[in-house]
Amino acid sequence: MPDLHPSYPIRTARLLIRPLAAADTEDLLAYRSMEQVCRYVPFYPMDSAAVAEKLKESWARRMIRAEGDSLTLGVELAESGALIGDVVLFFHSSEHRGGEIGWVLNPAYSGFGYATEACHALLHLAFGQLGLHRVVARVVEGNSASLRLADRLGMRREAHLISNRYFKGAWVGEVDFALVEDDWATQHAPGGGLGDRPR
Ligand SMILES: CC(C)(COP(=O)(O)OP(=O)(O)OC[C@H]1O[C@@H](n2cnc3c(N)ncnc32)[C@H](O)[C@@H]1OP(=O)(O)O)[C@@H](O)C(=O)NCCC(=O)NCCS
Repeated sequence: MPDLHPSYPIRTARLLIRPLAAADTEDLLAYRSMEQVCRYVPFYPMDSAAVAEKLKESWARRMIRAEGDSLTLGVELAESGALIGDVVLFFHSSEHRGGEIGWVLNPAYSGFGYATEACHALLHLAFGQLGLHRVVARVVEGNSASLRLADRLGMRREAHLISNRYFKGAWVGEVDFALVEDDWATQHAPGGGLGDRPR
């Protein structure tokens, strides 16, 4: 059974990716309480009680041990120490070595490639230490910033599902992206595709 137990923090060019802590509450609330941030994600604007509950439960996990686990990690800006977002990796299937990623960024830090850089680090964990075969991202149609992000990550647009989810009171479609381990290896081969740098 594959598992994932990273050494923290995971360092990228500009970021530290690491577990969330109670000290992050204010920074988390700064964006997770915003309507505009929650529009296309499966949670609603959070208050401090909701953040505290998450910090005690699913966000307290530091590793992936078994199918069904998810790992939510904070995205910290190295130069200031500010917590600017969070990313999540779901381990869906041990048999199929399948997982999924998701992302949320404080809009105050949008437009600098930080989400791309953090997700890239998460994909490294997914295909590296966890040894996944296939990682998907499911983006609600209309979420144009996330569609661009998945494209930037080199993920393949595999399907546009029409009206497939009853989401926050309405039927919405979804664009499904995926990367398989061969794609990842090709993209990171010397001279190939994305290279090893964040884009
Ligand atoms: C989706 C989301 C994370 C995208 O944020 P973002 O700031 O656009 O993404 P990045 O941090 O990767 O920045 C990329 C932008 O910075 C620009 N950029 C500047 N420097 C860059 C660099 N060094 N590397 C990459 N992009 C860079 C890019 O051109 C891009 O701008 P564009 O989309 O206008 O072309 C953000 O909109 C968000 O949190 N949305 C709400 C949560 C959500 O809907 N999540 C979906 C879960 S499926």
